[in-house]
Amino acid sequence: MKNKLIVANWKMHTSLADALVLIESVKNRLAEIEHLEVVLCPPFTWLVPISESLERFSVPRLKLGAQNIFSAKTGPYTGEISILMIKNFCCYVILGHSERREFFSEIDEEINDKVHLALENRVRPIICIGEKHRLGRLGRKSGMRSILEQLRQTTAKISRDDWQKIVIAYEPVWAIGGRQAASGAYAAEMIGEIRQEIAKIAGRKIADETRILYGGSVDQNNIQEFVHQEGINGAMVGTASLRAKEFVKICQLAAI
Ligand code: PGA
Repeated sequence: MKNKLIVANWKMHTSLADALVLIESVKNRLAEIEHLEVVLCPPFTWLVPISESLERFSVPRLKLGAQNIFSAKTGPYTGEISILMIKNFCCYVILGHSERREFFSEIDEEINDKVHLALENRVRPIICIGEKHRLGRLGRKSGMRSILEQLRQTTAKISRDDWQKIVIAYEPVWAIGGRQAASGAYAAEMIGEIRQEIAKIAGRKIADETRILYGGSVDQNNIQEFVHQEGINGAMVGTASLRAKEFVKICQLAAI
C-alpha cells in the first residue's frame, strides 16, 4: 500500500503572518518524517507566498492543495477562483467539503464538474463525502445509501486512469469541528462500504488502490486509532492542523 496521507485543511483561518509562521514551524519537522505524504491546504491568498517559501525548500512528500475551485474554467464569475489559477501551485484540491455543501449549497453534480476540471488540469481531487447525523445500528443501511449516492454522483464519468488520481475523504459531518470524532471501528466500517462501492464502479484493483481518508476531529490523541485500521489510508485534519506542534505529532504518529 502507498504511504499514508495527511491533509491539513486550514479553512478560513490564519493571517499571512500566522500562515508563514505555521509553515516555518512545521516544514523542517515534516521533512524528517519518511513514508508519509502531507498536503497543506491554506486559504487561496496564501498559496503563492507559501509555495514560494516551500520552493526554496523542496520536500517531495510535502505538497500544497486548494480548498475549492469554481465549476467553470473562466468567465464572468465575480469572486470565484478557477482551476487555472491554482494549478501551478497545487497538486491537490479539496472538493465537496461539507461546509461548502451546507453554506454554499453545493450539490453532487456541481462537485462532479469540479472533479473533472481538476483531473483535466492534473490536479488531484480530494472528494469529501459523509453523513449528516451519526448512524446508529438501525439507520446504518439507509444512511450508508446516501453516502454511496454522494460517491457515485461526485465521481460520475471518471475513467479508470483518472480513478487512480482520486482521494476520497470520508468525513461524517457530525464529527467535524473538534466536537466528537467517530470511533476507529465506525470509520473503518463506513470506509469498508465505500471501498466495496468503488469496486462496483471501477473494479476491485482500483478499489484496493484508492486512498480513503477519515476526517472529523482528528487530533494527536486519536490519529492512531484511525490510521491503524485496515483500509484507512490517512486523515484530513482541520482544527488540529493549525497547532504546529500538534500537527507535527499527528504526522509522526500517522507514519509509524
Ligand atoms: P476538524 O475538521 O478536524 O476540525 O473536525 C475536519 C474537516 O473539516 O476537514
